This record gives sequence, C-alpha cells and structure tokens, in this order.
Amino acid sequence: MIGSRHIPPPEAAVDWTIPQRWADYGADEHAIWDRLFARQTDLLQGRAANAFLRGIDVLKLTKAGIPDFAELSERLMALTGWQVVAVPGLVPDEVFFGHLAERRFVSGRFVRTANQLDYLQEPDVFHDVFGHVPLLADPVFADYMQAYGRGGLRAAGAGAIARLSRLYWYTVEFGLVREDAGLKIYGAGIVSSHGESIFALDDPSPNRLGFDLRRVMQTPYRIDDYQQTYFVIDSFDDLLRATLDTDFGPLYAALEGTPDVAIDAVLPDDRVITRGTQVRLHR
Ligand code: PHE
Ligand code: FE
Repeated sequence: MIGSRHIPPPEAAVDWTIPQRWADYGADEHAIWDRLFARQTDLLQGRAANAFLRGIDVLKLTKAGIPDFAELSERLMALTGWQVVAVPGLVPDEVFFGHLAERRFVSGRFVRTANQLDYLQEPDVFHDVFGHVPLLADPVFADYMQAYGRGGLRAAGAGAIARLSRLYWYTVEFGLVREDAGLKIYGAGIVSSHGESIFALDDPSPNRLGFDLRRVMQTPYRIDDYQQTYFVIDSFDDLLRATLDTDFGPLYAALEGTPDVAIDAVLPDDRVITRGTQVRLHR
C-alpha cells in the first residue's frame, strides 16, 4: 500500500491486532448492533445464501449486543479452525493476507453511529462480524478465505494485488450465488447493507453475470455506490475449485497491460443472468 503506514500504531501489536476490550462498549453501542442485526436478519430471510443463515445460527449471533470476539472465536475454532481478532482500522495488504493465511479474520472493533446506519466509509464491527464471519463457519468458504490469503501473499510478490483484489471484491464482498430457490446473496458488503440487500437481487439496474475468474480480474469496481455488475457463482465448491487449482501467476502475466472491461459492460462471452438497465445510479 503505497503511501500508507507500514508500522502498526503504538497501541497495536506487531501483527497489528489490538484487544477488543468488549467490556468497554457502551449500551448505546450495543443498541446500534441490535438495531442493525434485527433489521438485516429480517430482510435476509429468503435473500441470503443458506450457508450464511446457517452461520448466524451455529455461531449463535443474536440481537444481544456486539459479540465478544473471544467467545465467537471459540465457536468458530471448533467448527472450522478460524478466529476473529480486532485491529485499529484498515491494515496493510500483506498484514491482512498474512492473517487470512493463518485462518484469522481481522475485524474493526468500533461500531458506527446512529446516523451511519445505512452507509459508512470504513468497515465497522457490524460489517466485519455480521457481514463476514457467518460464512467462516462454512467449511468450504473457510478454505476459500485461507486460500485467498495465501494467494494474496503470492500476488504481493508478483505486484498483482490490485488484480487479485477484484476477485475479493466480486466474491467475498459482493458475490451472489445461484441456489435452487433462486439467486441469493453471500457477499459481506451486500448482507451488511440494507439498501444493497434489496438492490442486488431486485433492482433492474445492475448486470448479473456468471462468475468467470479471468473476466472478474479484468473488471474494475466501485467503492462509492452500489455495484453496476454482480458475478454469480454456482456454489462455494465451484468457486474454490476455480481458484484453488489455478496458478494465478500466468494469469497475472497474461492480463498485464490488457485494457479493463468497462464496469457496466456485457460481453458476447458473458453468461448473462440479468442484463442491467444501468439506469439507477444511486445513493
Ligand atoms: N490459486 C491462487 C494463486 O495461485 C490462490 C488463490 C486461491 C487465490 C483461492 C484466491 C482464492 O495465487
Ligand atoms: Fe469487508
């Protein structure tokens, strides 16, 4: 990360982690979690991937305040060997990848304020824990996240982090999955957003295209608004197979210097699930 700090702030350990200090959260902070949790779990019945809803269940995430990472990690460890650790904010890419490679998910400890319920710039504990952690209870997705961390460390060596981050964005953050009952959400950026949980499935504006690794790596993304294109996987097994067994090195080399695909484009080879109107540009 050019221009960003490479040494942890004074309160953090060398691996950038900090104590969560769960006892220090105030009643107002727990209340924000509770509001967001209730609103999203209602909305996500029938919208979120089965594995996500199952994760909420088996991890016993509830509308009872911000989870204690130690307790959550204990449950997660027993299921898939993952842990949740607190960090002061965004961390350098290689620190992030290093934690994932060791099956540690880094989470913000702060919670948004009441006037940021619908949107905030930096990931807070609701995005990180509610959005990301349920799927870490799924054995296949858990393996995908670790593989991504390892792949990130390799990409760093190859100068290909920007390329690989598109895969993270269009799967871990904004992915859709096709289930028997129809399209479902699994991306953390969607499930933690009230507006996008509706938009991503129901709105005629965005494209919804079958997932293709190379296509994803050629497609930029927006961080300031709802996505203009979503990529749909057939299953987590499929996603894991398409990524784990491919050496990304030659792919990075082949894509170097090639032009990006426009963010709203539909190409002749795309598997089109929905061709978006691209009418709604939003927030
Ligand atoms: N196979 C990828 C590589 O060679 C690693 C990876 C696996 C990345 C799964 C993302 C997800 O770098
Ligand atoms: Fe995230």
